[in-house]
Amino acid sequence: MSTEHKPNASQEDASAISRRDFLKLGGLAVGGLLTLEIGGMILRYVAPRQAEGEFGGIITAGAIDDFPPGSVTHIPSGRFYLSRLPDGGFLALYQRCTHLGCTVPWNQDEDKFICPCHNSQFTAEGELLNPPAPRPLDLFRVFFEEGLVKVDTSKPIQRAHFDPSQVVYP
Ligand code: FES
Repeated sequence: MSTEHKPNASQEDASAISRRDFLKLGGLAVGGLLTLEIGGMILRYVAPRQAEGEFGGIITAGAIDDFPPGSVTHIPSGRFYLSRLPDGGFLALYQRCTHLGCTVPWNQDEDKFICPCHNSQFTAEGELLNPPAPRPLDLFRVFFEEGLVKVDTSKPIQRAHFDPSQVVYP
């Protein structure tokens, strides 16, 4: 007597369906991976680059001695002002008005920043003197390397008020 088991027709159907399902799932998985890979490539292409020397990256403003105490210097490539306070400390102030984002020029005669859009005004420390801006100018991180002033423009730092602890010394 033979013990060999032969599948009947319905078992063959079930096995064929599960093979089809398996192939379908495999196809979906490969398609999903391809979509992720292509999405990643597109994101890498359109994401802002943070190269050194460009806004969004590390900007070398210049040598420490290029900035006399009590001076405010615009660094257009970094979109900030380097404010060197009379005591020799540095602040990097984002040029963007904290009201609606206009570029705020430094007014040397008035010794303050005056926004041309709605007249918000700020001190050389970026402290708010006159609304409608809701807070001081944002800061960027300042650090020093081999006698150079460097500014990290990757992330503006918001603050409620100017505080001497925000000032960085060489
Ligand atoms: S954008 Fe500067 S005061 Fe409105």
